Amino acid sequence: MSQTIIVTGGAQGIGKCTSQHLLKNGYNVVIADVDVEAVKECLQEFNEFQERLLVIETDTSQEESVKKCVKDTINKFQHIYGLVNNAAISNPNNAPVEDLLLEDWHKVIETNLTGYFLMAKYTVPHLRQSKGTIINIASTRALQSEPHTEAYVASKGGVVALTHALAISLGSDIRVNCISPGWIDVTQWRKLSLKKESDVRDIDNQQHPSGRVGKPEDIASMIEYLISDAASFITGQNFIVDGGMTKKMIYEE
Ligand SMILES: NC(=O)c1ccc[n+]([C@@H]2O[C@H](COP(=O)([O-])OP(=O)(O)OC[C@H]3O[C@@H](n4cnc5c(N)ncnc54)[C@H](O)[C@@H]3O)[C@@H](O)[C@H]2O)c1
Repeated sequence: MSQTIIVTGGAQGIGKCTSQHLLKNGYNVVIADVDVEAVKECLQEFNEFQERLLVIETDTSQEESVKKCVKDTINKFQHIYGLVNNAAISNPNNAPVEDLLLEDWHKVIETNLTGYFLMAKYTVPHLRQSKGTIINIASTRALQSEPHTEAYVASKGGVVALTHALAISLGSDIRVNCISPGWIDVTQWRKLSLKKESDVRDIDNQQHPSGRVGKPEDIASMIEYLISDAASFITGQNFIVDGGMTKKMIYEE
């Protein structure tokens, strides 16, 4: 029996690439995404996998929507083995903290942090049964900042902390890990109306110790590794996948 993995925000970007990667590698995949247009495109694009695919319009920040997503998943596949908490929004307007609206702060925290908690809460009973796993997608911004990114950065710091809290609470039934991507170029993985040529410049690639900006595949393969039995001794960790950027000293000469 194929293992069933829910990928939130699975209809675009890193999530979409991960959904495709897991489908190609034999998993059942549930794409839970709020974007109706992107969800429809996934249904068409991944049609060849329809037996092992469920696409559910889901808003992970809304409790009833999350409950429905989990219920529909169980109805189709009868079990859940993995949860990839990936759905997130970026910083609103890059407003300085004095101008950051409380409602904008709440929106980011609700999607990027509360949504991860809600998905964990309602999948955990099923993950316990399957001895499954959770992978949370945070960001290197949990560790370092550009100006005017308070809401996003705080949400991602919360995700890193939520990861080790869950790992300790849910061991030894469920392993919980986190991946913190650096700069990942997702332009080719957006829905058609948002797709555009990559604007990554030579200098962007060259500044990375790895020699290039990241691709969604870099994260998808790490996710698959953490789901697999090969990672059965790994829990509570935050894996930085950033081409080495957070290890680079950047003091000006
Ligand atoms: N791309 C990067 O450079 C980068 C770097 C660090 C971390 N990340 C993290 O990786 C993850 C994916 O990022 P991405 O660049 O692929 O983003 P993206 O914007 O390309 O895709 C995110 C998807 O999540 C969905 N989504 C947003 N809010 C949702 C909600 N409430 N419920 C359900 N779905 C929702 C969107 O509809 C979209 O399809 C995010 O957690 C992001 O913070 C990305």
